[in-house]
Amino acid sequence: MHVLVIQSSPNTDGLTAACADAAIAGIEAAGGTAENERLTDLKVASCNQCGNGWGRCRTGHECGGVLDDFQALHQRALAADGLALITPVYWGDLSERMKNLTDRLRRCEASLGEDSRLGGKPVLLVAAAGGGGGGMISCLTNMERWAQHVRMRPADLIGIKRITREHKLAAIRAAGEALVAQNS
Ligand SMILES: Cc1cc2nc3c(=O)[nH]c(=O)nc-3n(C[C@H](O)[C@H](O)[C@H](O)COP(=O)(O)O)c2cc1C
Repeated sequence: MHVLVIQSSPNTDGLTAACADAAIAGIEAAGGTAENERLTDLKVASCNQCGNGWGRCRTGHECGGVLDDFQALHQRALAADGLALITPVYWGDLSERMKNLTDRLRRCEASLGEDSRLGGKPVLLVAAAGGGGGGMISCLTNMERWAQHVRMRPADLIGIKRITREHKLAAIRAAGEALVAQNS
């Protein structure tokens, strides 16, 4: 089983990066393979809201409004057997780069309804918050809603903050293992 792990913090040694490493360790321990993609290395702009609000995403199920790294990443997401989306919590929400990516994936796939090409695939959703952890739950709620729209199956939804780091990293590793074990 191949899992595309996408993380969206600019910090290469921060909490989000540690979460991605933990998920990958679990996936590989269970015999799966993982790609580790850092959204801050790519250009994925916000949706252009083409036409009257819909563009090629509605009928062609691809983004024709903004040509950047989204198109290739979309294809990689479709080719993977599952996803892990790992975002820092910004303003109680997904980080802006993860929001851009998930918004555009949603337009292309949710417009297919039950035939979403991500439909039925598992996704591990992780929200990495700061010291207080306020807004972690609203971030996870928004990630869950996204998964519902594209019809992915949340393998787990995990919130982590600085003081829960050690036991939640262990949980993320275990969730990566379970994702592979339950879907292979
Ligand atoms: C613009 C911005 C907004 C943030 N908003 C929140 C927030 O709403 N709640 C929270 O707990 N932490 C918030 N934080 C803190 C980050 O979620 C926290 O530092 C996170 O662990 C970052 O992960 P990193 O170490 O991988 O960069 C915010 C940080 C930034 C830069």
